[in-house]
Amino acid sequence: MSRGPVIHTEDEIRRIRRAAELTAGVRDALPGLARPGMTTFDLDQLAGELIRETGGKSAFLGYYNYPGNICISVNDEVVHGIGRPDRILLDTDIVSIDVGVAIDGGVGDTALTFGFREQPEDIARLFKGTREALMAGIAEARAGNYVQNISQAVERVAKKYRLGIVREYVGHGCGTRLHEPPEVPNFVGNGRGPKLVPGMVLCIEPMLNLGTARVTTDRNDHWTVRTQDGAPSAHFEHMVLITDNEPEILTWPKTM
Ligand code: MF3
Ligand code: CO
Ligand code: CO
Repeated sequence: MSRGPVIHTEDEIRRIRRAAELTAGVRDALPGLARPGMTTFDLDQLAGELIRETGGKSAFLGYYNYPGNICISVNDEVVHGIGRPDRILLDTDIVSIDVGVAIDGGVGDTALTFGFREQPEDIARLFKGTREALMAGIAEARAGNYVQNISQAVERVAKKYRLGIVREYVGHGCGTRLHEPPEVPNFVGNGRGPKLVPGMVLCIEPMLNLGTARVTTDRNDHWTVRTQDGAPSAHFEHMVLITDNEPEILTWPKTM
């Protein structure tokens, strides 16, 4: 059983690049289609149609029996929320969407958090801090660095913005499967982790909270992860290719 980081071949990288680009397209279409009054189930169905239009399949549907097309996590929900016909979106909600598309041997995985209105100051700080933490992590995704350099950069920004760092869920390798080694924590742990080499593809994905870092999993659906104190949470995720030069963000928004 190989547990070391996955290094992808040139052919794999071509497929992963395409999957990532299509996944980012679905991610970026959803905030403009989501509206208060709609249910999170409606949003999941819409995402299912967009994923089908790419020619690919949801990378999440059926993964450990996950029942949704995408993950939709509202307010104090951190990750892995499932679209529900009884959950009507409000204009005061913040919504994290996490999208995965598998197509032709490549897998994409990317997330963002959005709202419908101008956000109150604390939510604006949560969004800005989580985005900045992701970008700081990406800046360290260079050959010769270690996974811990990414973790340290993410943690530093999270602390600067006084945000709780979720520890139970982490970033990961990705590309030909949804989750590949190595793990990419959003905090500094014990070892420096594997050395980064060209051909590695990492999902960097800070999950940061306005209050406590502590989370719980829903007792009934066994998926939805929430903050223990009910405070809002944000999640931004990009897939990044380690190269000989600059990090390549495979899920960067397409400029029109
Ligand atoms: N997209 C999540 C991640 O970023 C994984 C979702 S697994 C699912 O790693 F089963 F909930 F879809
Ligand atoms: Co994801
Ligand atoms: Co991920």
